[in-house]
Amino acid sequence: MDIMAFPRENDMLPQLFLLLTVFFLLLVKFTFSKNLKNLPPTPPTWSIIGNLHQIGEKPHISITNLANEYGPLISLHLGSQLLVVASSPEAAMEILKTHDRIFSARLVPSAYRQSSILPYTLVWSDCNQTWRTLRAICRTEIFSVKAIEIHSRVREEKVSYMLDFLRSKEGEVLNIAEVVFTTSFNILSCIIFSKDLLDLKDEHHTRGGLKDSIEKVMEYGGKPDFSNFFPMFRILDLQGIRKGSHKNIKRVFSFWKEIIKETRSQMGSSAWTSKQTKSLLDRLLEEGVSDNQINQLALELFIGGTDTTTSTVGWAIAELLRNKEALSKLEREVKKEINSDKITESQLSELPYLQACIKETLRLHPTTPFLLPHQAQETCEVMGYTIPKGAEIFVNIWAISRDPKIWDDPLSFRPERFLGSKVDFRGHNFEFTPFGAGRRMCPGLSLGLRSVELLLASLVHGLEWVLPDDDDPSKLDMDDKFGVTLQKEKPVKLICKLKKESLVA
Ligand code: HEM
Repeated sequence: MDIMAFPRENDMLPQLFLLLTVFFLLLVKFTFSKNLKNLPPTPPTWSIIGNLHQIGEKPHISITNLANEYGPLISLHLGSQLLVVASSPEAAMEILKTHDRIFSARLVPSAYRQSSILPYTLVWSDCNQTWRTLRAICRTEIFSVKAIEIHSRVREEKVSYMLDFLRSKEGEVLNIAEVVFTTSFNILSCIIFSKDLLDLKDEHHTRGGLKDSIEKVMEYGGKPDFSNFFPMFRILDLQGIRKGSHKNIKRVFSFWKEIIKETRSQMGSSAWTSKQTKSLLDRLLEEGVSDNQINQLALELFIGGTDTTTSTVGWAIAELLRNKEALSKLEREVKKEINSDKITESQLSELPYLQACIKETLRLHPTTPFLLPHQAQETCEVMGYTIPKGAEIFVNIWAISRDPKIWDDPLSFRPERFLGSKVDFRGHNFEFTPFGAGRRMCPGLSLGLRSVELLLASLVHGLEWVLPDDDDPSKLDMDDKFGVTLQKEKPVKLICKLKKESLVA
């Protein structure tokens, strides 16, 4: 090879780059302008990038500001991807009820657009046969009223273990969200695999990196991804999102590989037939489900179930700390209704103020401010506008649940607003849909709610919460961080003190 030829050939690079750029601009322009008639109002766009420059790090805030200016149904051009955002109860109802079928597809983030995921996913698939089968299995085995009752012992045991752990740490500064994360993760891992996969006593609760890897999988899924805006670059994976997500997903699967193998080998044995309670894994194996499918389903249940529960409990604690009156009222309710050392799930229905506190937390801090991304599978007319096939759809529940036209004093934490109110989150009141509505509505609503109720009630019942250095709770930083779920930017650090009256007699 003539080594001198290399620099000469490289001289062509600027021209090549120019050519590619022109090609790219034409392609973007072409994708941008096709089918785009009678769209919902759009803020002024820049060439190529569209409205990307208006989004920033907190899209729930910037997009709400744009909706306030341009209306309840707006369209945004994110590179070549068209995004339609619904920001009023009427617009949400059009998407989630009137045209539910058409908007029930998902826009898959590049992090999860992989051949090892797409055939198996529940969360990211269209409403196809795999999705129906998986939702049906999960409904029977973990989400039904009967399944939730069967698993109440697991939740009570894990929460009791958490309280013992917190008591053993009395006086120490703790990141309460981490403790709640580990507890809700173990609740799920016992339901899925009959085993704890994390350990509260392991200092960072990571169990050899499992927690880190799951967090990374979520982080990659929530990263602003260039190739979602310019899909022609998807194959290049310029930000390494697909590669990073793939690597961590494989690592996560390795943590339960042996459990699946061992459980599979026990099938048909006498121990198997005499099992009192079967795990989700047992049931999936009996149904003949493949390892790939089990891996993906378990991962999605962990992702769907743990961060949402943790962030709701974390925000509730922060709001209650800032609102002394609400905290005292909740403490009084719990003290009056619970006469034992530990709370059981059958007692939770006696705590209406607790339920109001949780609703108020989900109103102010919905875990997924835009729900998960939906996609139009056909072109459709909504509120007199045309939403073209392929458009990504957000329902901005964050904006709706803070809208002063709907809620009195919307930025204040006032659980009383839900006492005696018929407004509920089961998908019929479109001003309040923290679990979504319609066919893509969260299937884990009842399970998630039970866990949140039990965790929060037990934390209030058993412990007194004090901020380190006697910090003033009313000055607690309530800033949020946008990602797969909306978390507190700065997690609440607490010193837990044992409540005298909760000691066993
Ligand atoms: C406080 C607790 C929870 C909240 C606020 C919540 C919220 C949501 C929301 C907003 C969606 C998206 C709905 C849409 O795109 O229209 C969703 C979907 C989902 N959630 Fe939950 N969730 C919670 C707990 C759980 C739990 C405990 C599980 C399972 C263990 C779970 C599993 C799922 C799954 C699998 C989906 C995807 C459903 C589909 O695409 O068909 N969630 N959740």
